[in-house]
Amino acid sequence: MFVLGIESSCDETGVALVEAGESGLPRLAAHALHSQIAMHQAYGGVVPELASRDHIRRVLPLAQAVFAEAGRKLADVDVVAYTRGPGLAGALLVGAGVACALGAALGKPVLGVHHLEGHLLSPFLSADAPEFPFVALLVSGGHTQLMRVDGVGRYELLGETIDDAAGEAFDKSAKLMGLPYPGGPWLAKLAEGGDAAAFKLPRPLLHSGDLDFSFAGLKTAVLTQAKKLGSELEARKADLAASTQAAIVEVLLKKSLGAIEQTGLNRLVVAGGVGANRALREQLNAACAKRGVRVHYPELHLCTDNGAMIAMAAAMRLQAGMQSPTERYAFDVKPRWPLASLTEASPLA
Ligand code: KG4
Ligand code: ZN
Repeated sequence: MFVLGIESSCDETGVALVEAGESGLPRLAAHALHSQIAMHQAYGGVVPELASRDHIRRVLPLAQAVFAEAGRKLADVDVVAYTRGPGLAGALLVGAGVACALGAALGKPVLGVHHLEGHLLSPFLSADAPEFPFVALLVSGGHTQLMRVDGVGRYELLGETIDDAAGEAFDKSAKLMGLPYPGGPWLAKLAEGGDAAAFKLPRPLLHSGDLDFSFAGLKTAVLTQAKKLGSELEARKADLAASTQAAIVEVLLKKSLGAIEQTGLNRLVVAGGVGANRALREQLNAACAKRGVRVHYPELHLCTDNGAMIAMAAAMRLQAGMQSPTERYAFDVKPRWPLASLTEASPLA
């Protein structure tokens, strides 16, 4: 079975082809990606209308590239999967519209995928795939959640951010330091040459005793510190970046360890764009090694948004009998869509 996956929830257009048997892990045949980062950089953030228009331009050429690389053709596709949400409504509609048009034209069923489930299952695309059950730390630009994952579609929310996401904390702090969009990778790079102990920044909810996060106050503290530095900011930027990163990483680390302790599980999966952060990986690896906990990540290039994770999540849902694709092509999208609600959905609905 070949599953074509289309991702268009935000500022990356991703297309991928995954091959799945009746059992065993699905395998990535080919994937292609176009990042709109350069286009949005001039505005300091994603401009939804421009994102939608660019997805329209990119999606079919990317699909052609995928078929060429895989040595397959459109007629080989058995199911067309697309990101149904959460994300930008207009951007989602492009992927949903193209997927349903392809499905209708080919006479093949379509399946709408939850973007975060894509991130969550993306480590199954790597050679060292995890096994269920595990704790998942989902850290993207829009979400910060800890989940208990017992299988495909069996997700229990353990804790989440009550305001900004970890990615937002990176991006907003980076913006205050004059770094380009999206600031996460830029701030991380700058932090490599800085002193993480230079500035005392808050670690919100660190000792709250639960698994929730809060990052809005950190951004305010970074702004206050930047203002205090004034003309000195430029010279101390690396130190401020390193201190900011240290605060975010410490909170993510402590809460992840808390989730491991609370669930008694010995496997951690880290997914979403912030999962590419080196300091986070180093600290999680060290702390988990000490506790005999295995940590799994998606391959570095599959940490941020991509089509492979959407095709993979669809293939795994189909294999698990969690969902049937549909030949009704009246699509919708869900700009807001809690991941834990997938667990409540009746199987095969
Ligand atoms: O998962 P993702 O690609 O998109 C969403 O679904 O939101 O995550 C994007 C986020 C951005 O906030 C970006 O700054 C952050 O991931 N990010 C990083 C790094 N690479 C990407 N944050 C910190 N360090 C990185 N190396
Ligand atoms: Zn994402």
